[in-house]
Formats: sequence, C-alpha cells, structure tokens
Amino acid sequence: MQQNIKKAVIPCAGLGTRFLPATKAMAKEMLPIVDIPTLQYQIKEAIDAGLEEIILIISDAKEEIKKHFSRDENFENYLIEKGKQEEANLIKQLSTMAKITYVVQKEQKGLGHAILCCKEVIKDEPFVVILGDDLIINEKGDNVSKQMIDIYREKHCPIIGCQNVKESEVSKYGIMSLKGKMENRIGYLLDMVEKPKLEEAPSHLACLGRYLLTSDIFKILENTKPGKGGEIQLTDAIKSWCKYQDVIVYDFIGRRYDVGDKYGYVEAVIDFALKRDDMKEKVLNHIKEILSKKE
Ligand code: G1P
Repeated sequence: MQQNIKKAVIPCAGLGTRFLPATKAMAKEMLPIVDIPTLQYQIKEAIDAGLEEIILIISDAKEEIKKHFSRDENFENYLIEKGKQEEANLIKQLSTMAKITYVVQKEQKGLGHAILCCKEVIKDEPFVVILGDDLIINEKGDNVSKQMIDIYREKHCPIIGCQNVKESEVSKYGIMSLKGKMENRIGYLLDMVEKPKLEEAPSHLACLGRYLLTSDIFKILENTKPGKGGEIQLTDAIKSWCKYQDVIVYDFIGRRYDVGDKYGYVEAVIDFALKRDDMKEKVLNHIKEILSKKE
C-alpha cells in the first residue's frame, strides 16, 4: 500500500564553513535573502507542497533556529504597543506556519548521518529531504517538492532532484549516470559519485538538494562506511540502493540558487529584491547607476 507523504526533513546542522566569518556565531540557514531567512523559504516550500511536519536537524549550537520559529509574546506585545501590528503578525506567523520537530545531530558526520538521525521520527513513512543550500523557485507552477511528490504518487520510487551543471561545477555535487535516457524529465539511476573530479564524472547531471526517500534508506545508511571527506554520504547509500531498487532521477522545473555559496547568495538577494514591489525600482536604479559609471 502506498503511503501518504507528510514529512519533510531539512538538515541544518552543518558548520557553514563556506560562509565564514558570517556563520561563526550564526546558522547559515538564517542568512536572509533580503529579510527572510533561507530556511523560512525551505519550510514554505514544504508547506506549499502539502507536507505537514517539518523535521529540522540541528546541532546543539543552533538555538537561534528554534528561537526564530517559536512564539515570543513579549516581543509581539511590544510591537503592538508601538503600533506595529503588521510586524507583530509577521513574527507570530513564524510560530504557527508549520509543525516543527527538532532532531539534534550531536556530531557532524555528514549528510547521510544527519538523515539517519531522523530514523525514529520518520518511522516507516516516505519523506522529502530539502537541503538548505539549494533555494529553488518555480514561479510558473508547482514547487520542486510538489513536483517530486506527484511523481512518487505515480511511480512509487525514491526520487533525486537534478539538473545539468557546468563543467566547472561538477566537482561540487553528487553526479549521476542513468540507465538509458531521460524521458519527460525522468530517468533511472545507474550510478552516483560524490563530488568527482571533472575527468572522473559520469555526466554533468547533478543532484541539487532535493530527495524523496523511503524509510528503506535507514538500513542502508546504517551500513554505509564513511566516504568522501571521511563523512557518511547520502550519495554512497543511494548508490548501493539503486542496485536493487529503482531510483528516479528527476530533472526538476525551477531556477536554483546555491545560497551556500557567496556568489549564489548574492545572485539570490538581487533577483529576489528585483521581484519585490517595495524594492524593485530602487535596486534597478542602483544597478543602472553602477552600469552608467562603468561606461
Ligand atoms: C550535498 C550532497 C551532494 C549534493 C549537494 C547539493 O553536498 O552531498 O551530493 O549534490 O548537497 O547541494 P554538500 O553541498 O552539502 O556538501
């Protein structure tokens, strides 16, 4: 019997070393795209896709994440007293937007290990994994998580979200090869390598931070040895899995920003600001001014 998908897992326990010094004392997931933390976008994606429970994997150090999504009535009352009702509503919404469960990953032993930490809360249900570094926007239709849930309902297989990346980017991702060709954006996984050198990469097809997994993955993760970087890699577990289980590789529809990378982050901030009615004109004028000085 096929089960409903209700849960999303968002790993937030990484050290954020690509974004130091900003992430020395703050969680990289709290870096704002203008005024909304990236993690809030990821949670909204899950809710919009119809998921009901968000499991955030955090380290002991990431108390500010809990603080952001819990109720602060003192602050709300203060804002109301100051006549800032809209702001008070805004912060209240954060505590009611989703049912959030926190799972603590005590040691940073890799993405596979982080996912394994959720075994008890997931039990035997299928679940979506949303990686915080990958902010994916599809303005014209369903978001990437919803796209993958719809495919699961039809095909009943685990799914990895992918897109082709440039040669220079291949060594940053899990890279996949397929059994045969992709049809209607769907292929079947043959092999997967974590962050290969370009000359060793089986393709340019990169796993970009979205997975739909079933609870069978936990057993495999329990037996997965540390791989690249001495970490327990989700990639290695999926690589063994696809030997006996069909794993779909899905070329999702959407613009993806690598917000864990400084340049990708700046791209996202500019694009998101340009989409906002309260900022668009000012930002555009600023860009025009810079360009006119360059000529
Ligand atoms: C992780 C995965 C990698 C995937 C990437 C997507 O790497 O291990 O396979 O391609 O996310 O963003 P990380 O960037 O967390 O090192």
